[in-house]
Amino acid sequence: MEKDVIIACDFAGKEECFEFLDKFKDAKPFVKIGMELFYAEGPSIVREIKARGHKIFLDLKLHDIPNTVKKAMAVLSSLDVDMCNLHAGGTISMMEAAVEGLTRPDGSRPILLAVTQLTSTSEEAMKSDLLIDKPIDEVVMHYALNAAKAGLDGVVCSPLEAAKVHNACGKDFLTVTPGIRFADGDTGDQVRVTTPAKAKEIGSDFIVVGRPITAAKSPVDAYKRCIEEFTN
Ligand code: C5P
Repeated sequence: MEKDVIIACDFAGKEECFEFLDKFKDAKPFVKIGMELFYAEGPSIVREIKARGHKIFLDLKLHDIPNTVKKAMAVLSSLDVDMCNLHAGGTISMMEAAVEGLTRPDGSRPILLAVTQLTSTSEEAMKSDLLIDKPIDEVVMHYALNAAKAGLDGVVCSPLEAAKVHNACGKDFLTVTPGIRFADGDTGDQVRVTTPAKAKEIGSDFIVVGRPITAAKSPVDAYKRCIEEFTN
């Protein structure tokens, strides 16, 4: 798959989401559907956005026993999403079960990514709450390697970690990176941010961009700017 910009459609319901997507006349951006929209609207939101011609990253971050994840992944695969994800913390056997569940009878399957440690988790919280004593960078890289071992296609990570992940897991192992802001834009609640151009330079394969596009005066222009900076 070629480098692309994925728009995080963090909307509360489908009216708002479709009103946003209607602004993109001919372009059919790759979109990310998260828990909020999916739980509000159910699987029909995936079918409807797919029918409009968009590629979909379904960001549900599964984490359960291997058998449950395998069966849930089979359902997501039949929804024909292009990309989905899980928590690497569910262990290698859970990730292997996910790949199995996701694989269709013809051998094809959506791209499967792992979330390593959430960027909202600090090293202190990892230590005190999860009893993980190692430095967070080491944990993130270990989880990425586990994901590669289990046969996953890549990880969701900070663009600032993309080069490191490629060094550890191979250049074809995908890095899908949120935390993107324009050089002249607001950072909002994101802390470790970078621009689309810098993300390209560090080696991100896909950038996930929410508010810099969804809250822009002209979302179409903001999307075009992302595409130009990131893919050209
Ligand atoms: O609006 P903004 O560009 O910050 O949106 C980023 C999107 O990426 C949101 O949907 C957010 O939940 C998601 N995300 C993130 N950081 C992660 C994983 C996902 O910002 N580590």
